[in-house]
Amino acid sequence: MDLKGRDLITTQDWSGEELLAALDLAVKMKKDRYGFADVLKHRTFFMFFYNPSVRTRQSFECAATEIGGHAQFLEPKSMRLKTATTAGETIEDAGKVMSRYACGIGIRMLEDKCSRYGEGEELLREYARWAEVPIVSMAHDKFHPCQGLADVMGWTEWLSPKGTFDPGVLKGKKLLMTWGHGALARSWSSVQEAMLIGSRLGMDITVAAPEGYDLDPEVVEWTNQNCKSTGAAFDTTHDVTSGYKGAHVVYSRNWMSPAAYRDGKFHKEEEIEKAMKLSDWICDAEKMALTESAIYTHPMPIDRGHEVTDEVASGPRSCIYDVAENRLHAQKAIMALTMGAK
Ligand code: CP
Repeated sequence: MDLKGRDLITTQDWSGEELLAALDLAVKMKKDRYGFADVLKHRTFFMFFYNPSVRTRQSFECAATEIGGHAQFLEPKSMRLKTATTAGETIEDAGKVMSRYACGIGIRMLEDKCSRYGEGEELLREYARWAEVPIVSMAHDKFHPCQGLADVMGWTEWLSPKGTFDPGVLKGKKLLMTWGHGALARSWSSVQEAMLIGSRLGMDITVAAPEGYDLDPEVVEWTNQNCKSTGAAFDTTHDVTSGYKGAHVVYSRNWMSPAAYRDGKFHKEEEIEKAMKLSDWICDAEKMALTESAIYTHPMPIDRGHEVTDEVASGPRSCIYDVAENRLHAQKAIMALTMGAK
C-alpha cells in the first residue's frame, strides 16, 4: 500500500486497510519512540492555525522533530491571503508556492473562524485541489481525522487483552456519543470524526443529544451506512441517560446547535447561554454505572464540571491522557506514510 502524497481531510476518505496501516505504524512508533529518526529528515510541515490549539500544535511539532523534520507554525492573518471580504493571494497560488517548500500542509479552521458551516471543509478541499503536497486537517468545522485515529488507538489499547493491540476488539462494542452542556460552543469536528471511524471499525453507535442539537445529517447518514456495512447498530436519542446502558466507550462533548451559524456569523455567546441551561447533560458516575464498565473518552480540552465531572474525567476508567498522547504517535505515522521517505 502506498499512501505517499495522500490528503487526510477525514478518515472516511481512507480505506479500512489504510486506516489499519496507519494505526499499526502508530503503535510501532509508540513502542520505539525515537527509532524512526530519519523518516522526515530535512523536511518541513507547514501548520496554518486559524484557531488556538494546545494538543494539535504541540504534538505535530514534537512529532515532526522526533522523525527528523520540522513543523512550522503559520498564522494565516500574517499571510495576506484572499478572503471573502479582503483582497489577497488565492488558494491556488498559496497552495502551489507552499508545495515548493514544504512536504505537507496542516490546516485548522473551525468555530468562529468560519462564517458558515462547511466553510472550513471547502477551504481544505480547495487547498487539496491545488497543493502538490498532502493536506492534513488539524481540525476543521466538519472533521478532525488526527483526533479520530488517536481516539480509536486509545480505545483499542484499553479494550485489548493486556500487552496486545487489536483494533478488531472494537467490533461489537457500543460507543455512546453524548452531548454535554458547556461554555465552549464547539464545532462538530471531533464528534463527527469519532462516529465515522468508530463505525468503520464495527462499533455500535448511539448519539444522545437534547432536541435541537442534531449533527450534520450527511455525516449521520454516512455513520449509519458504515454501521450497516459492518452489521453494527446505529441509534439516536434525546434521552439523557438511556444511551449509557450497555456502553463500552462513553464520549461526552459539548457541540454547537445547527443554529450557531446565522447571518454569516458564529453566534458563540448565544450558543453558550442556551447550552448552560441544560445542566442535566453531564457525564457523571451515576450515569457511568449504567454502562458495561465503560471507559471514558474526550478529545480535550475538557470543560470539567459541565461536559463531565472530575470524578469521571480523572477516574480509573478515563483514557483521556492516553488518547491525547496518541495524537503524537498517530501524527508521526500520518506524516511518515503520506510525506516521508520510504
Ligand atoms: N483535541 C484537540 O485538537 O486539542 P487542541 O484544540 O488543544 O489542539
